[in-house]
Amino acid sequence: MLERLVPDVEAGSRATDPQPLVRFADVRLVFEAAAADVVALDGVTFDVPLGQITTVIGPSGCGKTTLLRLVAGLTRASAGRVLYKGEAVAALNTEVGYITQDSNLFPWLTTVENVEFPLALRGISKPERRERAMEWLQLVGLSGFESNYPNELSGGMQKRVSIARTLIYEPDVVLMDEPFGALDAQTRMMLHHELLQIWSRQHNTILFITHDLVEAITLSDHIVVMTKRPGRISAQYQVPLQRPRNVFQIFLEPHFDEFYAKLWNHFKSELPVQPD
Ligand SMILES: Nc1ncnc2c1ncn2[C@@H]1O[C@H](COP(=O)(O)OP(=O)(O)O)[C@@H](O)[C@H]1O
Ligand SMILES: [Mg+2]
Repeated sequence: MLERLVPDVEAGSRATDPQPLVRFADVRLVFEAAAADVVALDGVTFDVPLGQITTVIGPSGCGKTTLLRLVAGLTRASAGRVLYKGEAVAALNTEVGYITQDSNLFPWLTTVENVEFPLALRGISKPERRERAMEWLQLVGLSGFESNYPNELSGGMQKRVSIARTLIYEPDVVLMDEPFGALDAQTRMMLHHELLQIWSRQHNTILFITHDLVEAITLSDHIVVMTKRPGRISAQYQVPLQRPRNVFQIFLEPHFDEFYAKLWNHFKSELPVQPD
């Protein structure tokens, strides 16, 4: 199935999956401002296939967060369409889980109360939601921190809480906006490992945003490369690394080097100074 989704390596801006969970179809988005309008996205077409990890990679300001906001129904396209399960996203999309760049935990709730909050909204009984929240805290390595408040947790622990709080209600799609960007390298690797462990059991559809090439290769099945603003799609790739992957030594996985070089070529040409 993977081969069929992106037949050529450099497919550019186009849709490839007959039944994607999310489809961006020729999306243009212009932010109107008093001084000058900002074209954030232009002619963006790609699919987010069911059950895969799709990563969008691109420089700061190219419209990555805007893409997630479109899927979540928080922003409207100026032209083109954003389809979710074949229907245009016309209102707040409550079927998606959205992990924003900041952890966004409720500071007045403890760790376990934060994680069970989405289940409370869905009317699940207190004993059941507490039990499920405790299971999720164990999955993300936070047993023992149930009663701590967010300000008593490190950045990596807060990220784990926000991942548990999103995955606990089993959304169809998980939108993750540079979730590990602010973390140190070791913590980031641990969270890559945990995320892939969870994904290998559940096969959630994940739309992940990063500007980090290694992170994109480590996690993804499918990578969408964006240009600098106005964001356009310059290429799409199927990641040639086998799963399961050793995230702690991803550089040693077969095909890493040549695939990294291919991705880097897109960004090298956009640097103000050309390296050797
Ligand atoms: N509400 C807004 N009003 C005006 N311009 C915006 C707004 N939101 C984003 N932008 C602009 O649109 C472009 C894309 O933003 P964003 O999606 O946040 O980029 P990224 O996440 O890739 O860094 C940026 O140039 C940003 O300044
Ligand atoms: Mg962003």
